Amino acid sequence: MTTFETLKLERLEDGIALLTVNRPDKLNALNAQVLSDLYEAAISLKDDASLRALILTGEGRAFVAGADIAAMSDMSEEASYEFSSLGHRAMTELSNLPVPVIAAVNGFALGGGLELALTADLIYVSEKARLGLPETGLGIVPGFGGTQRLGRRIGWQRAKELVFTGRTISADDAVAYGLALDKLPLEGFLDAIIKLARSISTRGPLAIRAAKQAMVQGSELPIDDANQKEVEAFSGLWNSHDRAEGMAAFLEKRTPTYEGR
Ligand code: COA
Repeated sequence: MTTFETLKLERLEDGIALLTVNRPDKLNALNAQVLSDLYEAAISLKDDASLRALILTGEGRAFVAGADIAAMSDMSEEASYEFSSLGHRAMTELSNLPVPVIAAVNGFALGGGLELALTADLIYVSEKARLGLPETGLGIVPGFGGTQRLGRRIGWQRAKELVFTGRTISADDAVAYGLALDKLPLEGFLDAIIKLARSISTRGPLAIRAAKQAMVQGSELPIDDANQKEVEAFSGLWNSHDRAEGMAAFLEKRTPTYEGR
């Protein structure tokens, strides 16, 4: 386990890392220390070849209840610019991680909490999750990607409605809007997410990384260029140990042993 002032970063089995925002007495609100810890945690993970999936969650009853309003209340304009920029650096590093990132939204994911969840490839919610971007009610706008990543994720009309009204949505609505994949019971929630992560991390690790990269890069490109990314991903794996092992294991009717090379 790597210790940060405001985070716990644990290594579980099968190359799964668990990153827990750990300020439960403040519902894990994001102050500059949490943002800089998130940034450092992402940097420490990005070149780790043994990493196969990352789970993001929050300690206690919240995922993250937003940017720290007390810390923001007396910021200067210059400090607000730095704060938003620091948040963006942290969120960008997390969303650029080469492995699948899964947000396990246990409770409140408001403001910066929803923005943190939006850095994940897959978002799952517990039945207790409540999500929203309430910033306009404080006279500000989302500052860590909410005005950009939410619309790209669920479509601009719903994203605008959520930003304009600032309303908090239930776990069921998050699934209905395509913001979360599924709602799961709170009891055993994290174990269920770890099990999901294992169903990814036991597959060919180079293939998972290549698939994420092709989809992330391709989503920003015209279709012909995007399809070319897939051709490169497909053939780029060809001379790997794991491609040969995966196919040999199928033909020999056994479980493959992947080595990430
Ligand atoms: N920033 C700073 N502190 C926060 C916070 C935030 N975004 N969200 C919660 N906290 C703190 C509370 O101030 C309180 O601290 P205290 O015990 O020292 O007074 C503690 O976390 C517990 O929160 P509390 O409000 O008592 O819990 P609740 O169950 O009554 O309400 C929420 C939960 C999430 C509805 C409520 O905390 C809330 O509205 N938070 C702000 C959400 C928000 O606007 N986020 C976007 C910010 S840009």
